[in-house]
Amino acid sequence: MPDGMQSKTSQVGTAMLEVRDLHGFYGESHVLHGVSLEVRQGEVVTLLGRNGAGKTSTMRAIMGIMAKRTGSIRFQGTELIGMAPHRIPRLGIGYVPEERGIFSSLSVDENLTLPPVIKDGGMTVEQIYELFPNLKGRGSTQGTRLSGGEQQMLAIARILRTGANLILLDEPTEGLAPVIIEQIGVAVRALKQRGFTIVLVEQNFRFAATIADRHYVMEEGHVVDMIPNDQLHANMDKLHTYLGV
Ligand SMILES: Nc1ncnc2c1ncn2[C@@H]1O[C@H](COP(=O)(O)OP(=O)(O)O)[C@@H](O)[C@H]1O
Ligand SMILES: [Mg+2]
Repeated sequence: MPDGMQSKTSQVGTAMLEVRDLHGFYGESHVLHGVSLEVRQGEVVTLLGRNGAGKTSTMRAIMGIMAKRTGSIRFQGTELIGMAPHRIPRLGIGYVPEERGIFSSLSVDENLTLPPVIKDGGMTVEQIYELFPNLKGRGSTQGTRLSGGEQQMLAIARILRTGANLILLDEPTEGLAPVIIEQIGVAVRALKQRGFTIVLVEQNFRFAATIADRHYVMEEGHVVDMIPNDQLHANMDKLHTYLGV
């Protein structure tokens, strides 16, 4: 195969998640207005944007937990629009919602082992404890007795056993102390090293800049810009305008 051909083929083959002209509705309320973005295998990509821009809704639409959506969402070539919501995680997409979704009445170990393993390649509980040393030795601790940072770590950790290879993280650093944010950053970088593909909603773009390859900026239910991380600094004025900070 000629060189040019090969690189073209591999470019197409590396778009793991491809969202095209996605519209989303909560009842009568039309909140996503043609979102388009793509994420390549192994990338860390952020969704930036003001409150209400549609970042969470985009994640919910990918997971099928939105009443109505149109357009196209392809994960490893499979169309997710029209697919029953319970089938979507089984394809290998893990979702860590903003509200974390851990069971406060269950122990750390129970929270870790509850989500079913859907695919080979998930991490073992030992590997997870290596990634999140704060959780180590806390296996019998009840969810409610963890700090906010530990709860966030557990929320991420419980997805890693399942074998999901695309992880959607909605504002993992929200409300956490800088030292905890740094630990979450270390963990996300380690996950990238292990080959996970990550989509991250983040208000804190200084944090985002330390881990992401590219940034999508959302406004009013669609993507208005894409900034490669190495051009973030040069685009700071524009970004301040987008985010109103
Ligand atoms: N459950 C819901 N029902 C109706 N409207 C909603 C619901 N959740 C969010 N919205 C609206 O959808 C828009 C996008 O919200 P969201 O996706 O949560 O934004 P972001 O995560 O960027 O802050 C906002 O206008 C918000 O008010
Ligand atoms: Mg949100």
